[in-house]
Amino acid sequence: HTIADTQLTFELGEGTTQVTAQLRFERSDAAPDGATDLRLDGQELELVSVAVDGRALASNEYRLDDESLTLFDLPAHFELSVVTRIHPEVNTALDGLYKSGGMYCTQCEAEGFRKITYYLDRPDILAPFTTTIVASRNYPVLLSNGNQIDAHELADGRRSVTWRDPFPKPSYLFALVAGDLAVLRDEFVTTSGRKVELRIYSEPHNIAQCRYAMGALQRAMRWDEQVYGREYDLDIFMIVAVEDFNMGAMENKGLNIFNTSCVLASADTATDAAYQRVEGVVAHEYFHNWSGNRVTCRDWFQLSLKEGFTVFRDAQFSADMHSRTVKRIEDVNFLRTFQFPEDAGPLAHPIRPDSYIEISNFYTTTVYEKGAEVVRMIHTLLGPARFRRGTDLYFDRHDGAAVTTEEFIAAMEAANAVDLGQFRRWYSQAGTPVVAVRTEFAGDTLTVHFEQRCPATPQQPHKDAFHIPIALGLLDAGGAELLGAAGRRNGSAVTLTSDATIENPGDDGTLIVHLRQPSAQVTIAGLHSEGALSLLRGFSAPVNLQWHRSSETLAFIAQHDTDGVCRWDAMQTLFAAEIDRLRTGAVEPSGEFLTLLGELATAAHAAADDGEAKAMFAVMLTVPSEAYLGELMEQIDVDGLHRARVRLREVIGLTLFDSWLALYRGNSSTETYQPDGRGIARRALRNLALSYICATGDSHVDVAKRVVLNQYEGADNLTERLAALREIINAVWLERSVAAAALDGFAQRWQHEKLVMDQWFALQAACPAPDALQRVMALDNHPDFDARNPNRVRSLYGVFAQQNVVRFHASDGSGYRFLTERVSRLDRANPQLAARLLAPLTRWRRYDAARRLAMRDALRRIEADAALSKDVFEVVSKSLQTDG
Ligand code: TRP
Ligand code: ZN
Repeated sequence: HTIADTQLTFELGEGTTQVTAQLRFERSDAAPDGATDLRLDGQELELVSVAVDGRALASNEYRLDDESLTLFDLPAHFELSVVTRIHPEVNTALDGLYKSGGMYCTQCEAEGFRKITYYLDRPDILAPFTTTIVASRNYPVLLSNGNQIDAHELADGRRSVTWRDPFPKPSYLFALVAGDLAVLRDEFVTTSGRKVELRIYSEPHNIAQCRYAMGALQRAMRWDEQVYGREYDLDIFMIVAVEDFNMGAMENKGLNIFNTSCVLASADTATDAAYQRVEGVVAHEYFHNWSGNRVTCRDWFQLSLKEGFTVFRDAQFSADMHSRTVKRIEDVNFLRTFQFPEDAGPLAHPIRPDSYIEISNFYTTTVYEKGAEVVRMIHTLLGPARFRRGTDLYFDRHDGAAVTTEEFIAAMEAANAVDLGQFRRWYSQAGTPVVAVRTEFAGDTLTVHFEQRCPATPQQPHKDAFHIPIALGLLDAGGAELLGAAGRRNGSAVTLTSDATIENPGDDGTLIVHLRQPSAQVTIAGLHSEGALSLLRGFSAPVNLQWHRSSETLAFIAQHDTDGVCRWDAMQTLFAAEIDRLRTGAVEPSGEFLTLLGELATAAHAAADDGEAKAMFAVMLTVPSEAYLGELMEQIDVDGLHRARVRLREVIGLTLFDSWLALYRGNSSTETYQPDGRGIARRALRNLALSYICATGDSHVDVAKRVVLNQYEGADNLTERLAALREIINAVWLERSVAAAALDGFAQRWQHEKLVMDQWFALQAACPAPDALQRVMALDNHPDFDARNPNRVRSLYGVFAQQNVVRFHASDGSGYRFLTERVSRLDRANPQLAARLLAPLTRWRRYDAARRLAMRDALRRIEADAALSKDVFEVVSKSLQTDG
């Protein structure tokens, strides 16, 4: 059966909400002959009554269990009326209808709607919804999807408001909000001249912080028209900010619901990173209106169809709004730090998984971020114009339908007469491919050999070759491009031969090598000297390059490549090499490396104030995180990495002390805080300089103390205030009482701003002092710690386990015991959140024997719990499986 029309009535009452669903069912043509039974999904529901075509069913006419309601002997077409009762006040899982900070709200993706009423709760059942909400006057704002079509008062004083959403949608896009909310209003006029009403709702004390999100929404709406030709369709678009939310935000049709952390922003309550996240997430959810809502997923295996594509779209948008290269570097860094380990561990899965126990566990960096990389590779292979032809055809063909990733690829092929047959393997094979590179230079000829392989992943011992776009450039000794159109413009006359297809889609100095075979080679003849090869420009494919280069070559690329991602990547490699030297016995980093850093710091000082150049130097001069450095090692040397990284930062601070001071002074804020590219870049560079000044240990205590306390006390924005507070609490050279006073003062001042207090918890959870765990345990008992609020939980437990590598992985297993104990407890209240917090433990095979055992024991202790949720069970059991 399918559902032709859905009408819902919610009577919100303290303690109990009654839901009446009137559903018009139609037997689908695909139904097997004689099929007259119908199974509806439903969980944690109290069934009050069920009627077919107005006739109440007797108890022998249906069957009820914990997960479903099955009706027998149904006609081909009928109207079902089901009345259920639910209890949002005690819904701590934040899935379905729940209460957050006094307001009712919903989260239905992926399978939350079945906790509201009995339904065909799957994404390929699309129906228009009419929703009536009845509530007391304590809840003056009553919202649902679509347009409001009625509002009136009932005889008993309650109010009734009705919304109708004319666009057929799956149940996961349903939303309801009821509360005493403030609103910020604006509007948007679409290209075709339709006026759209825009509203952002929040609790009254937060409404002043919604302005930035409104601007971001307007920018996103305009951008989607210009870049994808996508116009908004309803007459109203609403965002509601809620404090308790499992994820970032949700794209419910016409009524997006957001974690406050992804909407609210003001100079004193949001860092530059938070502003950019707000803009990115607002855009992401808005873009889903087309990539997700108008064209949706046939089933949850297709999740990356909407998420991978939409992450790609929001990344393009952010790149257009801010520093393109830095945005790309941040994304590549995120992918390599979090997705690569997932792809190399026991929970590895293709971006289109082929099985799951609990779908909530598959909202992963693989489905999202690697999914976006796969879409990006199609964009790289086709170029922007042909990619746009493909998306136009995709939206055109499948508007109003629930489709698969296959339809996306097929549209790309059909619009462009290209063959993506082999490329499809990116959807079905897990694991990060390795591309080994070897070069030879003889006479006037450079030969580049490529060889690809992909490590085994669970259930996939063997992989077929991927179609990998490798962006390749070559520079001469003066840094000029030698290849492609740019090469010709520079007078280079090289000849290229290859057994792979090579294209120059950008008409620039970058060639795209289509690596399809297990191995390939490219020969470049007519060179005066070897030149400097630049590979995987823009990070053209989510692969690991295995490529040995001398430190001179890397330094040259870092300073001269035209591709910013490759410049940054060369620095990452050089940093990792220095860390390695220090970790394995060297006392000092190499002199050449320090010289290179000095040159970069000097160049940073002279860099243009354009929001791009300074931001680039800031990321290039940042030592990679312990999490990233650990991933580069076969077996992670937790303590060695930490010590080496501290030492490296100290030496860099000392050796270039004057440069850091100059950068610090040269990038002070000149005007009032603006979250724009220029300001963000200056603050990034200044805070980097501050961190090196503070890393000099006991050598410059007076200067460091003066600088950091001045910044802390004088800051007019959270970015600078928090950066200073971080240095204050991490500084071993500062009296403990100073740090304690700063922390207390901060908490006093900001205790009413929950998102700021999240940062206060997070800073301390990340502090690598030896007593970190004791501090985390004390914070766990702090009156402001709230285990029911996911943001707070992530700030304390999540940050400790993910960012405080050296203390979470204490060799005595104390960090592991702490996390498992808290996760077991959390699992009873909020399984989705609990399962996510376990991620760091699942990589137990990467550590030394003692840690490995301690981590495995911790996982086994959780597994022994009989009352485990499906969510946590799946993560724990898969990570303990022997073939993982
Ligand atoms: N679709 C949401 C997003 O774009 C993800 C999401 C929000 C979600 N809340 C959720 C997924 C709860 C699972 C459970 O990005
Ligand atoms: Zn999304």
